[in-house]
Amino acid sequence: MKRVIFDTDIGIDDAMALLFLHGAPGAELAAITTVAGNASLDDVTRNALVVAERFGIDAPIFRGAAGPLGEALGEGYPDFVHGRNGLGDIPLPEPGRRAEELPGAEAIVDLARRHPGELSVVAVGRLTNLADALALEPALPELLSELVVMGGVFGFRGHRGNVSPVTEANFGGDPLAADRVLGAGIPTTVVGLDVTQETVMDEAFIDELVDRAGEAGAFIHAITRHYFDFYEGLGDGRRCPIHDSSAVACLLYPGLYTTATGPVRVVTGGVALGQGILGEHPERYLSAAWRDRPACRVARTVDASGMRERYLESLARLKA
Ligand code: BDR
Ligand code: CA
Repeated sequence: MKRVIFDTDIGIDDAMALLFLHGAPGAELAAITTVAGNASLDDVTRNALVVAERFGIDAPIFRGAAGPLGEALGEGYPDFVHGRNGLGDIPLPEPGRRAEELPGAEAIVDLARRHPGELSVVAVGRLTNLADALALEPALPELLSELVVMGGVFGFRGHRGNVSPVTEANFGGDPLAADRVLGAGIPTTVVGLDVTQETVMDEAFIDELVDRAGEAGAFIHAITRHYFDFYEGLGDGRRCPIHDSSAVACLLYPGLYTTATGPVRVVTGGVALGQGILGEHPERYLSAAWRDRPACRVARTVDASGMRERYLESLARLKA
């Protein structure tokens, strides 16, 4: 059983990933930490509280960072993707429960100190909370069991960015935090667009969720109307990549993925702001930027139908 801190800017695909963690037989949620990204910090924290309350998720919820550490790509929030409220503009109740007092970064440190070597972190938003946690506790890499990050795009099979030709939104939203976290030495796997764009869900997949996952399926059907409208507007049809749930799948079912290994740098300025670059052969480069940095694993291929089946199976457990 993996005990998981879920670090999230909870929008549509984040909510789907949270329900995946909740239903999966091999995971137990230790905490949820929020970070601004898909919507404001107030909105994403409200979303975490609402989803947790509706589906009986007891894990404590901590408010994290309201903005990036350094220069970020773009301004405002992507309401054209996730809706103004971050959950596809479905009507949301006022949450009955509240976030904890402790700030998100402090909560990560506190939990890691109390459970050394036991906790995994799945980070599916900007990496600001983890960068702040590392500043508070430099020994964090030894205290955490592992980290799986949804972020970046590394060019495997020709994949390109979603917020610039070379940049993915979570890395672009706080490049400095991403560069610090990926260089910190936490045992890390990075799940980028290279595999999330290959793991697609369509209306037939949502219909199957509605059949098999009861209320969770109905909820996902409701929040994905806006999401599918956005992707349809791009000319992709009523289908979309499965981003954040892919990080959960990589944590729980690593056999679905193959990886490359090496240090990762994230570009913190200039035209390639937010680009993640894997340096598989640091000793061959004139540049010293990849030398003396711990290696990460970077997902390069995925068994997409296996991933989708794991998702369906886990969500079906919520109906029982
Ligand atoms: C990532 O950006 C966010 O909009 C999604 O929730 C996902 O974490 C994809 O680039
Ligand atoms: Ca996200």
